[in-house]
Amino acid sequence: MYRRRFLAHLAASPLALRAEDPLNLFELEEAARRALPPAHFGYLATGVEDDLTLKANRDAFSRYQLRPRRLVDVSKVSTSLDIFGSTFATPVLLAPTGSNKAFHAEGEIAVARAASSRKTGQLLSTAATSSIEEVNNAYGAPVWFQLYATSDWAVTERLVRRVEKAGCKVLVLTVDIPAGRKTETEIRFKRLDQRDCSACHGSGPIGTADYFRRKPMFNGIDVQGLTLFAPQFTWEHVLRLRAMTPLKLILKGIVRREDALLAKQHGVDGVIVSNHGGRAEESNRASLACLPEIVQAAGGDMAVLMDGGIRRGGDVFKALALGARAVCVGRPYLWGLGAYGQRGVELAIDILRGELELVMKQCGTRSLAEITGAFVREV
Ligand code: GLV
Repeated sequence: MYRRRFLAHLAASPLALRAEDPLNLFELEEAARRALPPAHFGYLATGVEDDLTLKANRDAFSRYQLRPRRLVDVSKVSTSLDIFGSTFATPVLLAPTGSNKAFHAEGEIAVARAASSRKTGQLLSTAATSSIEEVNNAYGAPVWFQLYATSDWAVTERLVRRVEKAGCKVLVLTVDIPAGRKTETEIRFKRLDQRDCSACHGSGPIGTADYFRRKPMFNGIDVQGLTLFAPQFTWEHVLRLRAMTPLKLILKGIVRREDALLAKQHGVDGVIVSNHGGRAEESNRASLACLPEIVQAAGGDMAVLMDGGIRRGGDVFKALALGARAVCVGRPYLWGLGAYGQRGVELAIDILRGELELVMKQCGTRSLAEITGAFVREV
């Protein structure tokens, strides 16, 4: 009965759910778990070591309460976001994630079609199983490109030139994995899987030569000895990158005010406060906990985005209230992709956007600009 009433409510909202559809992102995760081979689900689910940072990301949202205003006319609300010359229908962007074809045969192309149909920003990973040209074509416009600098500067430069040529306007440099990580949950799931991984793709560790075989951004590049991660990379390289390209430059993985200040000094246009979804170091510090000091350091001169643990529209609202311009989600849209392909990605976007609209109305905020720090309180 309750479920029927809730579905009727959702049917009246932008979200058109079918009776058998997941009600929320947690149910979408369960659908993906059922649909995917254990090794692939494990790659998606994993954090590092004890997955404490992964859990911390999620728990941080419950440490904030909402402070709604009453008697505001909320008959019309807009979740529209203007950023770096694009207008998106929602402040929730699709984070860069590698190997989307591990979750559905159409991989990043299905994601691009879903993102385009929902006017949602997509960030394509260097480690994607589709090329930037194919994805831009499916999206109908250039998406943002996430760059792993790799261990070879000549490769960095080739990747940047390629995405410039493809028309991309925004480059997102990931800086949070200089030298690998220990993904124990991934290994545990892999041990449950009896299939021979090397029959489809390389079975070597992430970011080594074997791994590049199914990564079209590396077609034509000599990957012998190359690694995806760049242990030699410093602020000096950020400066070189800044000088090399006119693209908007965002650093992904900033978690301290000192580094946000350095980003500003190095001419960076934005930062994503991120611990890579708990997949980098086991800091045990949530992205949301890092956000206020970065917002303060940015001081309005750089766009501050965040990711990590967002599973509800209310989480998006809290991140925006704490000063994020926009947020990114990774696992949620991959759950949708794994369970239902393009439609599942659309479901993930619709669920979050529907919930965000609802919480905006409940709090008396009609636009993203109206969501300020006054609407949340730390417990
Ligand atoms: C890639 O960025 C991953 O986290 O696996």
